[in-house]
Amino acid sequence: MGSPPRSRIELVRGDITEQSVDAIVNAANSSLLGGGGVDGAIHRKGGPSVLEACRALRAGHYGGGLPTGQAVATTAGELPARWVIHTVGPVYSAAEDRSALLASCYVESLRVARELGAESVAFPAISTGVYRWPMDDAARIAADAIRTARPSVPDIRLVLFDDAALTAFRTAFDTP
Ligand code: APR
Repeated sequence: MGSPPRSRIELVRGDITEQSVDAIVNAANSSLLGGGGVDGAIHRKGGPSVLEACRALRAGHYGGGLPTGQAVATTAGELPARWVIHTVGPVYSAAEDRSALLASCYVESLRVARELGAESVAFPAISTGVYRWPMDDAARIAADAIRTARPSVPDIRLVLFDDAALTAFRTAFDTP
């Protein structure tokens, strides 16, 4: 049994809520009850069914909230996707190296996507907004994690919200 074929990785500048993929990854917080940035956009565009599904998770297996570095799927509601995969990035800390937790967001989201049978997944630049992770370092961690993650999915899209993020991710993924 040979190793699975490598994923196709695409970097685009845009709005993650407009990506027509099987699964859109949300940069959530552990409450799973919404927020700003990506989280706010996903709940706004996804509609109430996304929050309802998140509330059900909180009433069930995730009573204490989704731990940092983990991922869980819900319906995508009105978004052009089948699922939202919520993951909680670490807040940046200069004192403590939380890189493994950030990498885990990508690895766990790909594992969940694979379990769902998703063929295509869109990621935002996790932790680089409200959670203040320096963009270049976050891009490097994302590139390493996505390239080495097994299991993975055939089509992976990184959706960057501005030119600075796109440049940082292009550098990290070593693409022109
Ligand atoms: N599409 C793609 N990328 C976006 C979008 C969007 N619609 N909106 C924001 N971004 C970018 C930001 O510019 C940033 O580079 O996503 C990256 C992640 O930023 P945040 O959404 O702030 O996520 P994060 O830094 O992981 O912080 C998570 O913020 O919104 C709250 O509830 C959320 O508490 C959680 C925290």
